Amino acid sequence: MKKVDTIEALRMARATLAGPVGFVPTMGFLHAGHLSLVERAKAECASVVVSIFVNPTQFGPNEDLEAYPRDLPKDLAMLEAAGVDLVWLPTPEVIYPPGFQTWVEVEDVTQPLEGAKRPGHFRGVTTVVAKLFNAVEPDRAYFGQKDAQQVAVIRQMARDLNVPVEIVVGETVREPDGLAMSSRNNYLNGEEREAATLLIRALRAAKELYAQGERNADAIRERMRAVIAAEPLARLDYVSSAHPETLVELETIDAGALLSMAVFVGKTRLIDNLVIGTK
Ligand code: PAJ
Repeated sequence: MKKVDTIEALRMARATLAGPVGFVPTMGFLHAGHLSLVERAKAECASVVVSIFVNPTQFGPNEDLEAYPRDLPKDLAMLEAAGVDLVWLPTPEVIYPPGFQTWVEVEDVTQPLEGAKRPGHFRGVTTVVAKLFNAVEPDRAYFGQKDAQQVAVIRQMARDLNVPVEIVVGETVREPDGLAMSSRNNYLNGEEREAATLLIRALRAAKELYAQGERNADAIRERMRAVIAAEPLARLDYVSSAHPETLVELETIDAGALLSMAVFVGKTRLIDNLVIGTK
């Protein structure tokens, strides 16, 4: 497994790889969710490139950039064991050299949900992902359904900018009790970790209500709110029952919905989602 940091070294190493090339962008502190994307890329592509870069521009001023967990030796061992060909570890100066002044902004689909609660977040994500795509030039890029809006935003960006990449989406990987795997789960203490199952409990309760015939999106959202309100350690940021592609809130669920939410458990902000009614 080759490791590079500069763009020049990345391009040279990329040129030697057999295609199709699969790419998994990450911020490190890897877990089974990231690895599921790497394994899928490995199964579907001749070569696999992974980037590890904690992208400062997608964190808000009061977010956890400094505290974001890092364990590079462990990450590299996991990627080596997974059979990754090339790991790109750019420094912030490689991605944002002095004088950097070009940003990629996707409009409508970045406005609701995470975009509304985290101003500037998606501008940082799309800018870094565009730069990673330009440097790696992957045939396929792998993203997790865990970050459903990120998938919608990156699909839109790739389409609008004619990026010749196929976006592949991997299912959310969960702990045995249903908590979606996330590097941020690391912030939870024992009590919070137990409470954190409320996201998937709320989503499953809403899905069950839908299965019983409920089609009113407000009633579905209310069901999720009720589960969250019952947990003293939790504070709701938002719940949503939206169109799976436009992410606009629905009144009636007639052709599927993305149920999603953000909840603070203690000081840690967790997100999760389920798609209902499309299968
Ligand atoms: P990061 O949070 O490290 O996630 C890297 C990829 O792993 C993303 O596509 C994310 O959706 C996916 N992922 C995370 N948890 C998952 C889980 N439990 N199951 C399946 N996939 C999961 O997302 C980012 O980094 C950044 O925004 C990035 C795209 C790298 C741009 O900086």
